[in-house]
Amino acid sequence: MNKTILENTVARLTDSPKGILAADESNPTCNKRFAAVGIPETEENRRQYRELLFTAPGLEQYISGVILYDETIKQKTAEEKSFTAALESKGIDVGIKVDAGLGDIPERAGEKFTKGLEGLAARLDEYKLMCATFAKWRAVYSVGKGTPSEKCMEMNAEIFSEYVRLCQERDIVPIIEPEVLLDGDYSAEECYQATAKNLDVVFSELKNSGAYLSGLILKSNMVLAGKDAPAKTPPEKVAELTLKCLKAHVPAEVKGIVFLSGGQTEEKASLHLNEMHKQGPLPWNLTFSYSRALQNSVLIYWAEHRDDIAGAQKLLLDAAKRNSLASVGKHK
Ligand code: 13P
Repeated sequence: MNKTILENTVARLTDSPKGILAADESNPTCNKRFAAVGIPETEENRRQYRELLFTAPGLEQYISGVILYDETIKQKTAEEKSFTAALESKGIDVGIKVDAGLGDIPERAGEKFTKGLEGLAARLDEYKLMCATFAKWRAVYSVGKGTPSEKCMEMNAEIFSEYVRLCQERDIVPIIEPEVLLDGDYSAEECYQATAKNLDVVFSELKNSGAYLSGLILKSNMVLAGKDAPAKTPPEKVAELTLKCLKAHVPAEVKGIVFLSGGQTEEKASLHLNEMHKQGPLPWNLTFSYSRALQNSVLIYWAEHRDDIAGAQKLLLDAAKRNSLASVGKHK
């Protein structure tokens, strides 16, 4: 493990005023988003859509890294340039989602563990040859009666540790994404408790396994009430609770934290990040790693105007710029 390489990659990916574009939707997830807006679910359409995103002029002003999916990292532009080369030529780091989705936890109805450790070492070697400098692994937790359970948290924490070890051995920065899902009618306080407890479990396991905490990135949910909760959490409160939770439950060695958008609206995701920076100074680099909150408008527009690539790219740049401003507390 080369700690300097890992630390430099963490700094490059999370330094303001940039953030990460998550474009690592698996084929089923990407197809689901295409189907919702009437785009035929083909490999060529997925390729065209990702080409539009990655070649948006000036994207590198706001985006430090892009997370790809296995199919995407092997694809090329219409001019036969690999997507990885297209991103690297803009100085954007190439990342790769390496988990293989979710499996059911025995005797824990509804709770999930993340699959994909099998063959992971060989896949990481392959992605490293394709110039990936970072990876991503997501686990999910639902908030409800008796959930997330100890079993779910422990099991996913052990899996995270093995993933982190395999990445760091290869000087690939692991993003760990323990996502408390927004589904449900739970309160912001319940979200706080679940997020806090789980962060304790994850970092305790990582420490025990010898993970290098300054050489990884935490990708967290924000702390807010579930999407079906009767009362929404005001932005100042989301910022306050999220910062309090991260400050108390993330070890000081961690230098880079990014957020998932998790189904928040595009505007809310920006507003919440902005509010956190207004409540700074913060002890870590703190920025965005959004998929839906960067892409929703782009996809809707492209579905209706398939030939207007520049128009769709402009929407991506608008969203990236808005979040870039939010990452320094200057979004209005
Ligand atoms: P969202 O921003 O849409 O939550 O996606 C982030 C992500 O990487 C999900 O794994």
